[in-house]
Amino acid sequence: MKDKSPDSPNEKKSQMWGGRFERGPAAIMEEINASIDIDRRLWREDIEGSKAHSAMLAAAKIITQADAQAIRGGLDRIAAEIEAGEFVFSKRLEDIHMNIEARLKELIGEPASRLHTARSRNDQVATDFRLFVRRACDELAAAVETLQKALVAKAEKHAGAVMPGYTHLQTAQPVTYGHHCLAYVEMLERDRTRFLDARKRMNECPLGAAALAGVPYPIDRDMTAKTLGFDRPTANSLDSVSARDFALETLAASAICAGHLSRLAEEIVLWTSPHFGFAALTDAFSTGSSIMPQKRNPDAAELCRAKVGRVAGAFTTLAIVMKGLPLAYSKDMQEDKAATFEAIDDMALALAAMAGMIDDMSMNEAAMREAAIRGFSTATDLADYLVRNIGLAFREAHHATGAIVAAAEAKGLRLDQLPIEEMRAVEPRIGEDIFKALSVDASVAARASYGGTAPANVAAEARRWKERLK
Ligand code: ARG
Repeated sequence: MKDKSPDSPNEKKSQMWGGRFERGPAAIMEEINASIDIDRRLWREDIEGSKAHSAMLAAAKIITQADAQAIRGGLDRIAAEIEAGEFVFSKRLEDIHMNIEARLKELIGEPASRLHTARSRNDQVATDFRLFVRRACDELAAAVETLQKALVAKAEKHAGAVMPGYTHLQTAQPVTYGHHCLAYVEMLERDRTRFLDARKRMNECPLGAAALAGVPYPIDRDMTAKTLGFDRPTANSLDSVSARDFALETLAASAICAGHLSRLAEEIVLWTSPHFGFAALTDAFSTGSSIMPQKRNPDAAELCRAKVGRVAGAFTTLAIVMKGLPLAYSKDMQEDKAATFEAIDDMALALAAMAGMIDDMSMNEAAMREAAIRGFSTATDLADYLVRNIGLAFREAHHATGAIVAAAEAKGLRLDQLPIEEMRAVEPRIGEDIFKALSVDASVAARASYGGTAPANVAAEARRWKERLK
Protein backbone atom coordinates (compact mmCIF):
# COMPACT_ATOMS: atom_id res chain seq x y z
CA MET A 1 0.00 0.00 0.00
CA LYS A 2 2.04 2.91 -1.26
CA ASP A 3 -0.56 5.65 -1.54
CA LYS A 4 -1.44 6.67 2.03
CA SER A 5 -3.02 9.96 0.96
CA PRO A 6 -6.24 10.98 2.75
CA ASP A 7 -9.51 10.12 1.12
CA SER A 8 -9.60 11.59 -2.33
CA PRO A 9 -11.34 14.94 -2.69
CA ASN A 10 -14.05 15.87 -5.14
CA GLU A 11 -11.82 16.66 -8.06
CA LYS A 12 -10.86 12.98 -8.11
CA LYS A 13 -14.35 12.02 -9.25
CA SER A 14 -14.13 9.60 -12.13
CA GLN A 15 -14.12 11.00 -15.63
CA MET A 16 -15.88 7.80 -16.68
CA TRP A 17 -18.78 7.64 -14.25
CA GLY A 18 -18.42 10.79 -12.15
CA GLY A 19 -21.86 11.94 -13.28
CA ARG A 20 -23.81 10.21 -10.57
CA PHE A 21 -21.08 10.39 -7.90
CA GLU A 22 -20.56 13.23 -5.44
CA ARG A 23 -17.02 12.46 -4.45
CA GLY A 24 -14.02 10.35 -5.39
CA PRO A 25 -13.05 7.00 -3.87
CA ALA A 26 -11.26 6.47 -0.56
CA ALA A 27 -7.55 5.90 -0.97
CA ILE A 28 -7.90 2.30 0.09
CA MET A 29 -10.77 1.80 -2.36
CA GLU A 30 -8.53 3.09 -5.14
CA GLU A 31 -5.78 0.77 -3.95
CA ILE A 32 -7.86 -2.41 -4.04
CA ASN A 33 -9.71 -1.43 -7.20
CA ALA A 34 -6.78 -0.51 -9.41
CA SER A 35 -5.33 -3.17 -11.69
CA ILE A 36 -3.11 -0.97 -13.84
CA ASP A 37 0.13 -2.37 -12.40
CA ILE A 38 -0.88 -5.77 -13.75
CA ASP A 39 -3.06 -5.13 -16.80
CA ARG A 40 -0.81 -2.51 -18.38
CA ARG A 41 0.65 -5.53 -20.15
CA LEU A 42 -2.55 -5.62 -22.21
CA TRP A 43 -1.86 -2.25 -23.82
CA ARG A 44 -1.14 -3.66 -27.28
CA GLU A 45 -4.28 -5.76 -27.25
CA ASP A 46 -6.34 -2.87 -25.90
CA ILE A 47 -5.23 -0.56 -28.69
CA GLU A 48 -5.72 -3.26 -31.31
CA GLY A 49 -9.24 -3.89 -29.99
CA SER A 50 -10.11 -0.19 -29.92
CA LYS A 51 -8.92 0.28 -33.47
CA ALA A 52 -11.03 -2.63 -34.68
CA HIS A 53 -14.02 -1.35 -32.73
CA SER A 54 -13.79 2.25 -33.97
CA ALA A 55 -13.28 1.14 -37.58
CA MET A 56 -16.41 -0.99 -37.28
CA LEU A 57 -18.39 1.86 -35.68
CA ALA A 58 -17.48 4.07 -38.64
CA ALA A 59 -18.27 1.37 -41.21
CA ALA A 60 -21.67 0.92 -39.56
CA LYS A 61 -22.14 4.69 -39.57
CA ILE A 62 -22.45 4.79 -35.78
CA ILE A 63 -19.61 7.32 -35.66
CA THR A 64 -18.17 9.36 -38.53
CA GLN A 65 -15.13 8.34 -40.53
CA ALA A 66 -13.48 11.55 -39.33
CA ASP A 67 -13.96 10.50 -35.70
CA ALA A 68 -12.63 7.03 -36.45
CA GLN A 69 -9.58 8.52 -38.12
CA ALA A 70 -8.90 10.81 -35.19
CA ILE A 71 -9.26 7.86 -32.81
CA ARG A 72 -6.91 5.73 -34.89
CA GLY A 73 -4.31 8.52 -35.00
CA GLY A 74 -4.56 9.08 -31.26
CA LEU A 75 -4.24 5.39 -30.50
CA ASP A 76 -1.12 5.20 -32.69
CA ARG A 77 0.40 8.07 -30.73
CA ILE A 78 -0.43 6.37 -27.45
CA ALA A 79 1.19 3.15 -28.68
CA ALA A 80 4.32 5.12 -29.54
CA GLU A 81 4.31 6.78 -26.12
CA ILE A 82 3.99 3.47 -24.30
CA GLU A 83 6.63 1.88 -26.51
CA ALA A 84 8.99 4.76 -25.72
CA GLY A 85 8.30 4.52 -22.00
CA GLU A 86 6.82 8.02 -21.99
CA PHE A 87 3.26 7.12 -21.10
CA VAL A 88 2.27 7.99 -17.54
CA PHE A 89 0.14 5.19 -16.11
CA SER A 90 -2.20 6.38 -13.39
CA LYS A 91 -3.69 4.32 -10.58
CA ARG A 92 -6.51 6.77 -10.29
CA LEU A 93 -7.57 5.66 -13.78
CA GLU A 94 -7.81 2.11 -12.50
CA ASP A 95 -6.92 -0.03 -15.43
CA ILE A 96 -5.33 -0.08 -18.86
CA HIS A 97 -8.65 0.58 -20.62
CA MET A 98 -9.35 3.83 -18.78
CA ASN A 99 -5.72 4.93 -18.85
CA ILE A 100 -5.68 4.70 -22.62
CA GLU A 101 -9.10 6.27 -23.08
CA ALA A 102 -8.25 9.19 -20.80
CA ARG A 103 -5.03 9.85 -22.69
CA LEU A 104 -6.93 9.63 -25.97
CA LYS A 105 -9.25 12.35 -24.72
CA GLU A 106 -6.26 14.54 -23.88
CA LEU A 107 -4.78 13.97 -27.30
CA ILE A 108 -7.78 14.21 -29.64
CA GLY A 109 -10.56 15.67 -27.55
CA GLU A 110 -14.18 15.05 -28.32
CA PRO A 111 -13.99 12.06 -30.74
CA ALA A 112 -12.37 10.04 -27.93
CA SER A 113 -15.66 10.20 -26.06
CA ARG A 114 -17.38 8.32 -28.89
CA LEU A 115 -15.00 5.34 -28.83
CA HIS A 116 -16.87 3.66 -26.01
CA THR A 117 -20.14 3.64 -27.96
CA ALA A 118 -21.61 0.12 -28.16
CA ARG A 119 -18.88 -1.25 -25.93
CA SER A 120 -18.22 -1.83 -22.24
CA ARG A 121 -15.06 -2.54 -20.33
CA ASN A 122 -16.51 -6.00 -19.80
CA ASP A 123 -16.36 -7.05 -23.44
CA GLN A 124 -13.26 -4.92 -23.88
CA VAL A 125 -11.25 -6.76 -21.22
CA ALA A 126 -12.61 -10.12 -22.33
CA THR A 127 -11.37 -9.35 -25.83
CA ASP A 128 -7.98 -8.00 -24.75
CA PHE A 129 -7.32 -10.93 -22.46
CA ARG A 130 -8.32 -13.44 -25.11
CA LEU A 131 -5.98 -11.83 -27.60
CA PHE A 132 -3.17 -12.00 -25.06
CA VAL A 133 -3.77 -15.61 -24.07
CA ARG A 134 -4.18 -16.61 -27.72
CA ARG A 135 -0.76 -15.18 -28.52
CA ALA A 136 0.67 -16.95 -25.46
CA CYS A 137 -0.68 -20.26 -26.80
CA ASP A 138 1.07 -19.64 -30.11
CA GLU A 139 4.31 -18.69 -28.40
CA LEU A 140 4.27 -21.56 -25.93
CA ALA A 141 3.48 -24.06 -28.70
CA ALA A 142 6.48 -22.71 -30.63
CA ALA A 143 8.69 -22.91 -27.53
CA VAL A 144 7.64 -26.52 -26.99
CA GLU A 145 8.56 -27.24 -30.58
CA THR A 146 12.03 -25.74 -30.10
CA LEU A 147 12.56 -28.08 -27.17
CA GLN A 148 11.28 -31.03 -29.19
CA LYS A 149 13.81 -30.24 -31.92
CA ALA A 150 16.64 -30.19 -29.38
CA LEU A 151 15.55 -33.59 -28.10
CA VAL A 152 15.18 -35.05 -31.59
CA ALA A 153 18.74 -33.96 -32.42
CA LYS A 154 19.97 -35.82 -29.33
CA ALA A 155 17.86 -38.85 -30.19
CA GLU A 156 19.41 -38.97 -33.62
CA LYS A 157 22.91 -38.65 -32.22
CA HIS A 158 22.40 -41.28 -29.52
CA ALA A 159 19.94 -43.61 -31.26
CA GLY A 160 22.02 -46.66 -30.31
CA ALA A 161 23.52 -45.51 -27.01
CA VAL A 162 22.57 -48.06 -24.36
CA MET A 163 21.53 -46.88 -20.93
CA PRO A 164 19.69 -48.54 -18.07
CA GLY A 165 15.95 -48.23 -18.34
CA TYR A 166 14.31 -47.96 -14.93
CA THR A 167 11.13 -48.82 -13.19
CA HIS A 168 10.88 -47.68 -9.55
CA LEU A 169 14.28 -46.10 -10.34
CA GLN A 170 15.65 -49.65 -10.14
CA THR A 171 17.53 -50.92 -13.18
CA ALA A 172 14.94 -52.70 -15.31
CA GLN A 173 15.99 -53.35 -18.91
CA PRO A 174 18.46 -51.66 -21.22
CA VAL A 175 17.04 -48.94 -23.41
CA THR A 176 18.72 -46.44 -25.67
CA TYR A 177 19.19 -42.82 -24.77
CA GLY A 178 17.65 -41.87 -28.09
CA HIS A 179 14.50 -43.75 -27.12
CA HIS A 180 14.43 -41.92 -23.81
CA CYS A 181 14.69 -38.54 -25.57
CA LEU A 182 11.90 -39.44 -27.96
CA ALA A 183 9.64 -40.37 -25.03
CA TYR A 184 9.78 -36.69 -24.07
CA VAL A 185 9.22 -35.63 -27.67
CA GLU A 186 5.97 -37.62 -27.64
CA MET A 187 4.70 -36.08 -24.40
CA LEU A 188 5.73 -32.61 -25.54
CA GLU A 189 3.78 -33.13 -28.75
CA ARG A 190 0.67 -33.66 -26.64
CA ASP A 191 1.54 -30.49 -24.72
CA ARG A 192 2.08 -28.54 -27.92
CA THR A 193 -1.21 -29.63 -29.42
CA ARG A 194 -3.01 -28.97 -26.14
CA PHE A 195 -1.98 -25.31 -26.48
CA LEU A 196 -3.16 -25.29 -30.08
CA ASP A 197 -6.45 -26.99 -29.18
CA ALA A 198 -7.07 -24.41 -26.47
CA ARG A 199 -6.33 -21.69 -29.00
CA LYS A 200 -8.87 -23.11 -31.42
CA ARG A 201 -11.62 -23.15 -28.81
CA MET A 202 -10.90 -19.64 -27.52
CA ASN A 203 -10.75 -18.06 -30.95
CA GLU A 204 -14.14 -16.35 -30.83
CA CYS A 205 -14.54 -12.61 -30.36
CA PRO A 206 -16.47 -11.30 -27.33
CA LEU A 207 -16.37 -7.67 -28.52
CA GLY A 208 -19.90 -6.34 -28.99
CA ALA A 209 -21.38 -8.20 -26.03
CA ALA A 210 -20.91 -4.87 -24.22
CA ALA A 211 -21.73 -4.95 -20.50
CA LEU A 212 -23.66 -8.23 -20.66
CA ALA A 213 -26.72 -7.96 -22.89
CA GLY A 214 -25.52 -6.80 -26.29
CA VAL A 215 -26.15 -3.34 -27.76
CA PRO A 216 -28.99 -1.45 -29.44
CA TYR A 217 -26.71 -0.25 -32.26
CA PRO A 218 -26.35 -1.88 -35.69
CA ILE A 219 -22.83 -3.15 -34.96
CA ASP A 220 -21.03 -5.62 -37.21
CA ARG A 221 -19.54 -8.23 -34.92
CA ASP A 222 -18.32 -10.30 -37.85
CA MET A 223 -16.21 -7.36 -38.92
CA THR A 224 -14.48 -6.85 -35.56
CA ALA A 225 -14.02 -10.60 -35.15
CA LYS A 226 -12.38 -10.83 -38.53
CA THR A 227 -10.19 -7.77 -38.00
CA LEU A 228 -8.86 -9.22 -34.76
CA GLY A 229 -8.16 -12.63 -36.30
CA PHE A 230 -10.99 -14.47 -34.56
CA ASP A 231 -12.87 -17.23 -36.37
CA ARG A 232 -16.26 -15.76 -35.45
CA PRO A 233 -17.99 -13.66 -32.79
CA THR A 234 -19.09 -15.36 -29.57
CA ALA A 235 -22.76 -16.33 -29.73
CA ASN A 236 -24.04 -15.36 -26.28
CA SER A 237 -23.41 -11.96 -24.73
CA LEU A 238 -23.63 -13.21 -21.14
CA ASP A 239 -21.14 -15.98 -21.78
CA SER A 240 -18.90 -13.58 -23.71
CA VAL A 241 -18.17 -11.37 -20.72
CA SER A 242 -18.25 -14.16 -18.10
CA ALA A 243 -16.01 -16.77 -19.66
CA ARG A 244 -12.45 -17.22 -18.49
CA ASP A 245 -12.17 -20.92 -19.23
CA PHE A 246 -9.96 -20.04 -22.19
CA ALA A 247 -7.35 -18.89 -19.66
CA LEU A 248 -8.04 -21.86 -17.40
CA GLU A 249 -7.55 -24.24 -20.28
CA THR A 250 -4.26 -22.59 -21.20
CA LEU A 251 -3.15 -22.79 -17.57
CA ALA A 252 -4.18 -26.44 -17.39
CA ALA A 253 -2.16 -27.17 -20.53
CA SER A 254 0.70 -25.20 -18.98
CA ALA A 255 0.51 -27.12 -15.71
CA ILE A 256 0.59 -30.46 -17.52
CA CYS A 257 3.51 -29.31 -19.63
CA ALA A 258 5.31 -27.96 -16.56
CA GLY A 259 4.83 -31.38 -14.97
CA HIS A 260 6.54 -32.97 -17.94
CA LEU A 261 9.37 -30.46 -17.72
CA SER A 262 9.77 -31.30 -14.06
CA ARG A 263 10.28 -34.97 -14.90
CA LEU A 264 12.92 -34.24 -17.50
CA ALA A 265 14.52 -31.75 -15.12
CA GLU A 266 14.66 -34.37 -12.39
CA GLU A 267 16.37 -36.77 -14.76
CA ILE A 268 18.95 -34.14 -15.65
CA VAL A 269 19.59 -33.62 -11.94
CA LEU A 270 20.07 -37.38 -11.51
CA TRP A 271 22.15 -37.91 -14.63
CA THR A 272 24.53 -35.07 -13.85
CA SER A 273 25.05 -36.22 -10.26
CA PRO A 274 28.42 -37.97 -9.81
CA HIS A 275 26.55 -41.10 -8.66
CA PHE A 276 25.10 -41.54 -12.14
CA GLY A 277 27.67 -39.66 -14.19
CA PHE A 278 25.59 -40.10 -17.35
CA ALA A 279 25.58 -36.46 -18.39
CA ALA A 280 27.45 -33.22 -17.95
CA LEU A 281 26.37 -29.63 -18.38
CA THR A 282 29.00 -27.10 -19.41
CA ASP A 283 29.81 -24.02 -17.36
CA ALA A 284 27.11 -22.22 -19.31
CA PHE A 285 24.40 -24.23 -17.56
CA SER A 286 26.04 -24.95 -14.20
CA THR A 287 26.56 -22.97 -11.06
CA GLY A 288 29.24 -23.39 -8.44
CA SER A 289 29.10 -23.36 -4.69
CA SER A 290 30.48 -20.51 -2.62
CA ILE A 291 31.88 -22.96 -0.09
CA MET A 292 32.40 -26.33 -1.81
CA PRO A 293 34.82 -25.87 -4.72
CA GLN A 294 34.10 -29.27 -6.24
CA LYS A 295 30.43 -28.54 -6.88
CA ARG A 296 28.75 -28.14 -10.25
CA ASN A 297 25.10 -27.61 -9.58
CA PRO A 298 22.32 -28.04 -12.17
CA ASP A 299 20.36 -25.03 -10.91
CA ALA A 300 18.50 -24.43 -14.16
CA ALA A 301 17.18 -28.00 -14.08
CA GLU A 302 16.12 -27.61 -10.48
CA LEU A 303 14.29 -24.38 -11.26
CA CYS A 304 12.56 -26.03 -14.21
CA ARG A 305 11.59 -28.83 -11.85
CA ALA A 306 10.09 -26.29 -9.47
CA LYS A 307 8.09 -24.22 -11.96
CA VAL A 308 5.18 -26.65 -11.94
CA GLY A 309 4.39 -25.47 -8.42
CA ARG A 310 3.81 -21.92 -9.54
CA VAL A 311 2.09 -22.88 -12.78
CA ALA A 312 -0.28 -25.41 -11.24
CA GLY A 313 -0.83 -22.80 -8.53
CA ALA A 314 -1.92 -20.30 -11.16
CA PHE A 315 -4.49 -22.78 -12.45
CA THR A 316 -5.79 -23.29 -8.93
CA THR A 317 -5.88 -19.54 -8.34
CA LEU A 318 -8.03 -18.84 -11.36
CA ALA A 319 -10.23 -21.91 -10.90
CA ILE A 320 -11.06 -20.73 -7.40
CA VAL A 321 -11.53 -17.09 -8.42
CA MET A 322 -14.09 -18.20 -11.02
CA LYS A 323 -15.89 -20.75 -8.88
CA GLY A 324 -19.43 -19.79 -7.91
CA LEU A 325 -19.48 -16.45 -9.73
CA PRO A 326 -22.99 -15.66 -10.91
CA LEU A 327 -23.39 -14.44 -14.47
CA ALA A 328 -22.25 -12.12 -15.82
CA TYR A 329 -19.16 -10.03 -14.99
CA SER A 330 -17.99 -9.61 -11.41
CA LYS A 331 -14.95 -7.67 -10.32
CA ASP A 332 -13.49 -10.90 -8.95
CA MET A 333 -12.57 -11.58 -12.54
CA GLN A 334 -10.01 -8.79 -12.51
CA GLU A 335 -7.93 -11.21 -10.44
CA ASP A 336 -7.58 -13.44 -13.51
CA LYS A 337 -4.54 -11.74 -14.96
CA ALA A 338 -1.71 -11.72 -12.42
CA ALA A 339 -1.61 -15.50 -12.09
CA THR A 340 -2.06 -16.05 -15.80
CA PHE A 341 0.68 -13.64 -16.82
CA GLU A 342 3.07 -15.09 -14.30
CA ALA A 343 2.41 -18.66 -15.39
CA ILE A 344 2.88 -17.80 -19.04
CA ASP A 345 6.19 -16.07 -18.25
CA ASP A 346 7.29 -19.05 -16.17
CA MET A 347 6.46 -21.45 -18.97
CA ALA A 348 8.30 -19.43 -21.61
CA LEU A 349 11.36 -19.24 -19.36
CA ALA A 350 11.32 -22.91 -18.37
CA LEU A 351 10.85 -24.14 -21.94
CA ALA A 352 13.70 -21.98 -23.21
CA ALA A 353 16.00 -22.99 -20.34
CA MET A 354 15.20 -26.64 -20.90
CA ALA A 355 15.96 -26.39 -24.62
CA GLY A 356 19.21 -24.65 -23.73
CA MET A 357 20.16 -27.42 -21.31
CA ILE A 358 19.36 -30.20 -23.75
CA ASP A 359 21.54 -28.54 -26.39
CA ASP A 360 24.28 -27.99 -23.84
CA MET A 361 24.29 -31.38 -22.16
CA SER A 362 26.80 -34.01 -23.24
CA MET A 363 26.18 -37.67 -22.56
CA ASN A 364 28.77 -40.15 -21.29
CA GLU A 365 27.84 -43.17 -23.39
CA ALA A 366 30.44 -45.41 -21.72
CA ALA A 367 29.10 -44.67 -18.24
CA MET A 368 25.49 -45.28 -19.33
CA ARG A 369 26.44 -48.58 -20.95
CA GLU A 370 28.45 -49.67 -17.92
CA ALA A 371 25.51 -48.90 -15.63
CA ALA A 372 23.20 -50.91 -17.87
CA ILE A 373 25.52 -53.91 -17.81
CA ARG A 374 26.08 -53.70 -14.04
CA GLY A 375 22.44 -53.77 -13.02
CA PHE A 376 21.50 -57.29 -14.26
CA SER A 377 19.45 -55.43 -16.81
CA THR A 378 19.40 -58.37 -19.22
CA ALA A 379 17.85 -60.78 -16.74
CA THR A 380 14.61 -60.61 -18.71
CA ASP A 381 16.57 -61.58 -21.83
CA LEU A 382 17.83 -64.65 -19.99
CA ALA A 383 14.27 -65.57 -19.08
CA ASP A 384 13.15 -64.96 -22.68
CA TYR A 385 16.00 -67.24 -23.84
CA LEU A 386 14.74 -70.01 -21.56
CA VAL A 387 11.26 -69.62 -23.04
CA ARG A 388 12.25 -69.37 -26.68
CA ASN A 389 15.23 -71.77 -26.84
CA ILE A 390 14.36 -74.32 -24.17
CA GLY A 391 10.60 -74.17 -24.06
CA LEU A 392 10.09 -73.26 -20.41
CA ALA A 393 6.88 -71.52 -19.44
CA PHE A 394 7.59 -67.85 -18.69
CA ARG A 395 6.85 -68.15 -14.97
CA GLU A 396 9.30 -71.09 -14.66
CA ALA A 397 11.86 -69.21 -16.72
CA HIS A 398 11.44 -66.20 -14.43
CA HIS A 399 12.09 -68.40 -11.41
CA ALA A 400 15.20 -70.03 -12.90
CA THR A 401 16.55 -66.65 -13.95
CA GLY A 402 16.06 -65.35 -10.44
CA ALA A 403 18.22 -68.16 -9.12
CA ILE A 404 20.94 -67.40 -11.69
CA VAL A 405 20.88 -63.68 -10.82
CA ALA A 406 21.21 -64.59 -7.14
CA ALA A 407 24.23 -66.78 -7.93
CA ALA A 408 25.90 -63.98 -9.88
CA GLU A 409 25.12 -61.46 -7.18
CA ALA A 410 26.57 -63.75 -4.49
CA LYS A 411 29.83 -63.99 -6.45
CA GLY A 412 29.90 -60.26 -7.26
CA LEU A 413 29.75 -61.00 -10.97
CA ARG A 414 27.75 -59.53 -13.83
CA LEU A 415 25.36 -61.92 -15.58
CA ASP A 416 27.60 -62.24 -18.63
CA GLN A 417 30.60 -63.03 -16.38
CA LEU A 418 28.95 -65.92 -14.58
CA PRO A 419 30.52 -69.22 -15.74
CA ILE A 420 28.14 -71.34 -17.77
CA GLU A 421 28.46 -74.22 -15.28
CA GLU A 422 26.85 -72.03 -12.63
CA MET A 423 23.95 -71.33 -14.96
CA ARG A 424 23.63 -74.99 -15.87
CA ALA A 425 23.42 -75.86 -12.18
CA VAL A 426 20.07 -74.08 -12.33
CA GLU A 427 19.01 -75.09 -15.85
CA PRO A 428 21.21 -77.77 -17.51
CA ARG A 429 19.90 -77.08 -21.02
CA ILE A 430 21.42 -73.59 -21.28
CA GLY A 431 23.77 -73.40 -24.30
CA GLU A 432 26.86 -71.29 -25.04
CA ASP A 433 24.69 -69.01 -27.17
CA ILE A 434 23.25 -67.59 -23.94
CA PHE A 435 26.09 -65.07 -23.78
CA LYS A 436 24.90 -63.46 -26.99
CA ALA A 437 21.47 -62.95 -25.45
CA LEU A 438 22.98 -61.41 -22.33
CA SER A 439 24.68 -58.48 -24.03
CA VAL A 440 22.95 -55.15 -23.63
CA ASP A 441 23.30 -54.51 -27.37
CA ALA A 442 21.53 -57.74 -28.23
CA SER A 443 18.88 -56.88 -25.67
CA VAL A 444 17.98 -53.50 -27.17
CA ALA A 445 18.35 -54.74 -30.75
CA ALA A 446 15.86 -57.51 -30.02
CA ARG A 447 13.19 -55.04 -28.92
CA ALA A 448 12.16 -54.15 -32.43
CA SER A 449 8.43 -54.35 -31.77
CA TYR A 450 6.53 -51.22 -32.79
CA GLY A 451 7.40 -48.49 -30.29
CA GLY A 452 10.29 -50.54 -28.87
CA THR A 453 13.79 -49.34 -28.06
CA ALA A 454 15.75 -51.09 -30.86
CA PRO A 455 18.33 -48.63 -32.28
CA ALA A 456 16.95 -49.12 -35.80
CA ASN A 457 13.47 -48.13 -34.55
CA VAL A 458 14.86 -45.14 -32.72
CA ALA A 459 16.84 -43.90 -35.70
CA ALA A 460 13.74 -44.18 -37.89
CA GLU A 461 11.57 -42.40 -35.32
CA ALA A 462 14.12 -39.62 -34.94
CA ARG A 463 14.09 -39.17 -38.72
CA ARG A 464 10.31 -39.08 -38.75
CA TRP A 465 10.21 -36.44 -36.04
CA LYS A 466 12.88 -34.38 -37.73
CA GLU A 467 10.81 -34.37 -40.91
CA ARG A 468 7.64 -33.54 -38.99
CA LEU A 469 9.09 -30.66 -36.99
CA LYS A 470 10.87 -29.06 -39.92
N1 ARG B 1 -10.11 -3.90 -14.95
C1 ARG B 1 -11.27 -4.68 -15.17
C2 ARG B 1 -10.92 -6.17 -15.24
O1 ARG B 1 -9.81 -6.47 -15.50
C3 ARG B 1 -11.95 -4.27 -16.42
C4 ARG B 1 -13.42 -4.53 -16.43
C5 ARG B 1 -14.10 -3.67 -15.46
N2 ARG B 1 -15.52 -3.79 -15.58
C6 ARG B 1 -16.36 -3.33 -14.62
N3 ARG B 1 -17.61 -3.53 -14.81
N4 ARG B 1 -15.91 -2.74 -13.54
O2 ARG B 1 -11.74 -7.03 -15.02
